[in-house]
Amino acid sequence: MSSKMRWAMLISLALVILVIATACGPAPTPAPTAAPAMSSSSAASKPAAGGKLEMFSWWTAGGEADGLKGMFDAYKKAYPSVEIVNATVAGGAGTNAKAVMTTRLFGGDPPDSFQVHAGLEVATYTPDKYLQPLDSIFTSEGWDKVFPKDLLTLLKYQDHYWSVPVNIHRANVLWYNKKVFADNKLEAPKTYDDFFKVADALKAKGIVPFVFGDKEGWESAHVFETVLIGTLGAEGYRGLWTGKTAWTDPKVTEALNTYKKMLTYTNTDHAALTWDGAGEYLLNGKGGMQIMGDWQDGWFTSKKFTDYGWAAAPGNAGIFDALSDSFAMPKGVKNQENATNWIKMAGSKAGQEAFNPKKGSICARTDCDQSLFNAYLQSAAKDWQANALVPSVAHGAAAFEKWATAYKDTMALFVTSGDVAKTQASLAQHCKDNGVCK
Ligand code: BGC
Repeated sequence: MSSKMRWAMLISLALVILVIATACGPAPTPAPTAAPAMSSSSAASKPAAGGKLEMFSWWTAGGEADGLKGMFDAYKKAYPSVEIVNATVAGGAGTNAKAVMTTRLFGGDPPDSFQVHAGLEVATYTPDKYLQPLDSIFTSEGWDKVFPKDLLTLLKYQDHYWSVPVNIHRANVLWYNKKVFADNKLEAPKTYDDFFKVADALKAKGIVPFVFGDKEGWESAHVFETVLIGTLGAEGYRGLWTGKTAWTDPKVTEALNTYKKMLTYTNTDHAALTWDGAGEYLLNGKGGMQIMGDWQDGWFTSKKFTDYGWAAAPGNAGIFDALSDSFAMPKGVKNQENATNWIKMAGSKAGQEAFNPKKGSICARTDCDQSLFNAYLQSAAKDWQANALVPSVAHGAAAFEKWATAYKDTMALFVTSGDVAKTQASLAQHCKDNGVCK
């Protein structure tokens, strides 16, 4: 399938969701009054006089923190007299950060910039009321030429750009410990049958087959999203978010049963571990496989661990489950000039090259120097070009926040309930509640 077609499918999904979001979302508020005050064209424009820059995110683990520091260092180089305040609220996928951010924004105490997933997640922040549109920065920085056209379309909400994309992450990756696999003459599983064979072999050796940490809840939704993709295929999975695929479909039942079986191969302490905490099992060779987004690659790098292999999650070959992190700029920030320069840095080649190799993501820009990236990220960049693209629901790209949260909560409960029928019924109900299914 041509890249144009792949994108067209992603966009048509975004448009469907947009229509639904508009129909179901908060009452429209008046269009933004004025564009933000802005200095001229590039990230390297004259250094600001000083003051602070408060940047809000949930990046605290390994490569997340290292990547952010990489971008802070690039900013400091351009604006040495600005003091950077790194405001983080820990919790993968923004589990805790999003609520804190909403309170701050709606309570009139915004940071200068904050992290938000590209796509409809921005609707959560009532952008026309609380955020500065970035359209003129997109124009002045020439971003309409360096970000893929369709990523630009995906970013547009209510006809404005509200955030600048800093990366592209892949969610559907199976990571494995190479030595453990070599010692046991195993290969990365391509199908679920393979997965269970490999899992049995590892179990027989006293190695945790399927490393898992679901302390924060979203991790279950994340893994299950890859099982939905692996069972329904790209088109079937996309259809779940547009109403084309019924949540009552027997394939969804099959996916739930497969996932339930996968959960019988996990470490017993999974409920006490976050994604990175669980990753320690791979590091110390006590675990075999883990399904997680490619921030895991950044985490391995931060731990100086190189003996890991990767493959698409079972059944996911040729499909890239995509998401993108971006930075927004609230209205009424305390340090306007510093914030504007930060947004420009985030979208710049220098900023993205300083950030992504450490973060474990590929650039949102199309002109980054590939030699800066490790073997995994170079392979991800190729897959991004060649694969069918599907949007991640656990990370803000497939559905608006209310539905994504309901889906995540349901799948978090499934880990303990294991109730396939009840879970499928509530997933189907969420689709109805959110106006997508009849
Ligand atoms: C974000 C990543 C982050 C991951 C784990 C995702 O939602 O997009 O940047 O590393 O959550 O916290």
